[in-house]
Amino acid sequence: MGNNREALLQVTKLEVVYHHVSTAIQGVSFSISEGQLFSIIGANGAGKTTTLRAISGFLGLDNAKITDGEISFMNKRINGLPPHRITNMGIVMVPERNKIFETLSVEENLGVSVSKSKDRKKREQEIYEYFPSLKGHRHHLAGILSGGQRQMLAIGQALLCDPKLFLLDEVSMGLAPLVVTSLLETLVKMKSDLGLTILLVEQNAAAGLEIADYAAVMENGRIVFDGIPKKLLAHEDVREFYLGIRGTDEKSYRDVKQYRRTRRWWG
Ligand SMILES: Nc1ncnc2c1ncn2[C@@H]1O[C@H](COP(=O)(O)OP(=O)(O)O)[C@@H](O)[C@H]1O
Ligand SMILES: [Mg+2]
Repeated sequence: MGNNREALLQVTKLEVVYHHVSTAIQGVSFSISEGQLFSIIGANGAGKTTTLRAISGFLGLDNAKITDGEISFMNKRINGLPPHRITNMGIVMVPERNKIFETLSVEENLGVSVSKSKDRKKREQEIYEYFPSLKGHRHHLAGILSGGQRQMLAIGQALLCDPKLFLLDEVSMGLAPLVVTSLLETLVKMKSDLGLTILLVEQNAAAGLEIADYAAVMENGRIVFDGIPKKLLAHEDVREFYLGIRGTDEKSYRDVKQYRRTRRWWG
């Protein structure tokens, strides 16, 4: 993942520290080219959300700071810029939690989005076309929506900000497998219709790898492995630790639990 002048987003040796003391990510480098769907997979606490917060500028709220490295978007350095400037440049994030207003209607939720869209009404129509199940709830409070519909609404809000680069934090979390599949399919469709570039971070490795053009594995604040999904899916450690597949042998759960092999990313 070396330097790439053509990259839309280039992250180089990024380090983020919380509360001046706790290093959450370190030496994180990757680049995303235009139109690419890039997935970062990793367990809870690996540093995925921190990476997205650093890119989108939302670090201050959590008393975190970029202490090393660089983030550039369309060849402009963006680290240190306030979130609204970064959003205006076209980087829009759908956060992991608290993304919609439960006491507003679906339509009002779309209305609060800071849209630069000239043709806002048309965009809103598009959102209902991508997510027909939102349409029937247009005038209902968002608080009654299912988990999947909340996710759709949050994606809809973000779309109204005219993203070039879409950052999605755990879209699949808490959703039934069928809902995840249909949501991912819609994302892929949006990406090609609207010319989006997408950075997805997922604990759900299967979901993250399913639609990615390129993917990276994050552990303990570092990227330890990367490649096209096919390469990751073939890696023994990805299969064992992230997909729960252990070769062809039929060890019992107990054996699996006791057998804590160290990961061998480079071995
Ligand atoms: N607000 C915070 N304050 C202090 N430490 C945090 C905060 N948020 C995350 N961290 C720490 O940063 C590391 C990475 O967390 P995070 O980026 O949330 O991982 P992920 O999104 O992969 O689950 C973890 O060790 C976590 O405890
Ligand atoms: Mg997270």
